[in-house]
Amino acid sequence: MRPIIIVVGARPNFMKMAPLYSELKKRKINTLLLHTGQHYDKNMSSVFFEELNMPKPDIYLGVGSDTHAKQTAKIMVDFEKICLEKKPQRVIVAGDVNSTIACALVATKLNIPVDHVEAGLRSFDMNMPEEINRILTDRISSLLFTPSEDANINLINEGTDPEKIKLTGNIMIDSLMNNLEKTNTTILDEIGVEKEKYALITLHRPSNVDEKTTLNEIIEGLKAISEDINLVFPLHPRTKNKIEEFGLETKWNENIKITGPLGYLDFLSLTKNARMVITDSGGIQEETTALGIPCLTLRDNTERPITVDQGTNKIIGNKQKRLIDEVKNILDNGKPSYEIPHFWDGKTALRIADILEKKLS
Ligand code: UD1
Repeated sequence: MRPIIIVVGARPNFMKMAPLYSELKKRKINTLLLHTGQHYDKNMSSVFFEELNMPKPDIYLGVGSDTHAKQTAKIMVDFEKICLEKKPQRVIVAGDVNSTIACALVATKLNIPVDHVEAGLRSFDMNMPEEINRILTDRISSLLFTPSEDANINLINEGTDPEKIKLTGNIMIDSLMNNLEKTNTTILDEIGVEKEKYALITLHRPSNVDEKTTLNEIIEGLKAISEDINLVFPLHPRTKNKIEEFGLETKWNENIKITGPLGYLDFLSLTKNARMVITDSGGIQEETTALGIPCLTLRDNTERPITVDQGTNKIIGNKQKRLIDEVKNILDNGKPSYEIPHFWDGKTALRIADILEKKLS
C-alpha cells in the first residue's frame, strides 16, 4: 500500500494531527508523518510531540523561519522531492499556516489528492496570511473536512462541489478531551497564580504585534487591567522579538507574569483554570468555548464565528478602552452562558478516518 503523508509544520498543527495520526496507525494504514520545521524551538514543536504521544516525524524538512515567500518556497522544493520519492496516495494537511498551502500546492500539481482538515473557515480578511492560505488550500483540496456548519456554508457559497465537503467536527477538541485528565495545577504554582484569579494572555498576530503603536496600546491596556487581576502571558517568539525591538519590555509589573512559550498540557491547564483568556489566536477561541472559559479576542473578526454565536468568545478589537471595559464586565458579571457546538465531541478523528479508509486503495 502506498503511504499517505500527514503534514505538520507549526504549533497549531500538532494538536490537529495527533488524534488523526494515531487513529490511522490504529487502523494499520501506511501513514508517514512529515514535519516541515516551520516551527522548530523545543517549546514550539518537540514538546507537543512528546505530550501528544506522536512519534518523531518520519520526515523532517527543517525549513525554519524566513519571509513568507522564502519559507513557502523552501517547503515546496523539499516536499516535492519527498512526494516524488514516496509516491503517497494522498496528502493530508491541516489548518492555515504556510506549511499547509505549500504542501497542498505541491501535491496537487503532482496529481496527488490533498485533503484539508479544518476546511471552510473564513475571516473574510485578506490582510491575514492565514486567510489566503485557507482559501487557496480549500480550492485545491479533494476532501474538505469541516469543523462546523458555518464552514460548510462558506464553501458552498464559493461554489465548492458539495460532495467534497465532509462535516466531521473539530479535531482540536479530540486532543483537548484526550488530554484534559492529564493536566494538574503545578504550572499555576510555578508561576505563582491561583485558580480563577488570573487572566491568560496570548498575542502573536502580525496585525497586533508587528507595529509599535498597536503593540504599545495593547500592552498599556494589559498594564491597566493588571491592577484588577493577575495576568499570565506566555510570550510567542515573534512577540518577544517585537517587544525587544520596540523597547517595550520595561512596561511589565509584578502582576504580569511573563513566561516563554508553554507546552500543550501546561497551557491547557492554565486555560482551564483561568478567570478569562485574552487572545488573538484562532485555536484558543475554540478551546475556551469547549471549556466554558470567557474569551476576549483582540481582533476585528474571527474565522470561527460559532465560538461567538454559541460559545464564550467575544470579538473586541485591539483598543485599550474596550479591553478594559470588557475585562471589567467579566470580573463583575462572571461567565456567559454557552453551548458546545455540534460534533465537538472528541470523535472527529474517527469520522475522518472512516471517510479516508474508504478512499484508500
Ligand atoms: C505561524 C502561523 C500562524 C499561527 C502561528 C502559531 C503562518 C503564516 N502563520 O505564525 O497562523 O497562528 O504560527 O504560532 O504560517 N520563531 C521562533 N521559533 C520557532 C518558530 C518561530 O523563534 O520555533 C520566531 C521566528 O523569529 C519567526 C517568528 O517567530 O520569524 C514567526 O514565525 P512564523 O512561523 O513565521 O510565524 P508565526 O508568527 O509563528
